[in-house]
Amino acid sequence: MGTEDRRRWLARRLAAADGFVSGAVLAEELGVSRVAVWKQVRRLRAEGYAVDTSDDGYRLRIRPDGLLPEEVRFGLDTRAFGQSVEGHRITASTNSVARAAAEDGAPHGHLVLAEEQTQGRGRRGRTWVSPPGGLWFSLVLREGLAVAELPLLSGAVGVAVADALARLGVAARIRWPNDILVGERKCGGILLELAGEAEALTYAVVGIGLDVNVRPADAEPALAGSTTSLAEAVGRPVDRRRLLQELLVQLERWCGAVRTAPGAVLAAWRARDALAGRWVRVVQGDTAVEGEALGIGDEGGLRLKLPDGRVVSRWSGDVVLVETARPPSA
Ligand code: BTN
Repeated sequence: MGTEDRRRWLARRLAAADGFVSGAVLAEELGVSRVAVWKQVRRLRAEGYAVDTSDDGYRLRIRPDGLLPEEVRFGLDTRAFGQSVEGHRITASTNSVARAAAEDGAPHGHLVLAEEQTQGRGRRGRTWVSPPGGLWFSLVLREGLAVAELPLLSGAVGVAVADALARLGVAARIRWPNDILVGERKCGGILLELAGEAEALTYAVVGIGLDVNVRPADAEPALAGSTTSLAEAVGRPVDRRRLLQELLVQLERWCGAVRTAPGAVLAAWRARDALAGRWVRVVQGDTAVEGEALGIGDEGGLRLKLPDGRVVSRWSGDVVLVETARPPSA
């Protein structure tokens, strides 16, 4: 273990302990001297941890509020996603920061994380309210980008988020193209932005916003009835570090599968589809089309059966649920 890993281990060991842990025990467990333990405690304090000292040893009283980049990387089981990471207390939009970082040469998988966004962006030019307590982050993707595969990539990101939530015990589904729902309520969204020419994309930025420990009414009062938070879904605050690490693992896995196993991405997307069999309206700018959602097509579009029986595909738009089932007269 390097010194940074030792410090992360120490922070977790103290967080898990019930009361004081002696310096001698910590030194033995870490295989270092007691002075080295003391030095790491000093560094933890500089990072914002409050650690009490007594004759009995050390006790963690307060963890820093935010997610530190070092905490995210510690024990993170990915090849590239999140291995390069920058954290901001507050920023306009992590997608904008990630784009700037990509222009400056940030590597594939570079992660931009913020505790708060002042100009968070949603799909179709909407604003995305991002108070402290949520997970607001963006990833730079450089590998495996082809325009024809973008709808599938967008679905793969949705599948990854739903899978990470499932591992925390939250059953989430995807409302095409990639809204994350718990029950019928939205708890997260995905914004995919691209740079380069259609034939040669230089990079993509995947922005993900999840209402984790945010009260929906605080985040977007106007949407309070149609949104929820993960804390609300599980009935207790959610460990954002653990969730973020799980998200990074699943994102790396599913984004990679777009190239290597597109059939598996489609199958997983279809298995988590919140719309199949339901009567929906797809709104694209000023136009809207209504019909029965038939599910996700092979290229990632939404297949719709119109009232006159024709089957069409939609590649972008917002979906509004009209009825839970197709009206009998239609
Ligand atoms: C949606 O409209 O459903 C997509 C919302 C995407 C929000 C995330 S939060 C992190 C990243 N930065 C942004 O400005 N937007 C995305």
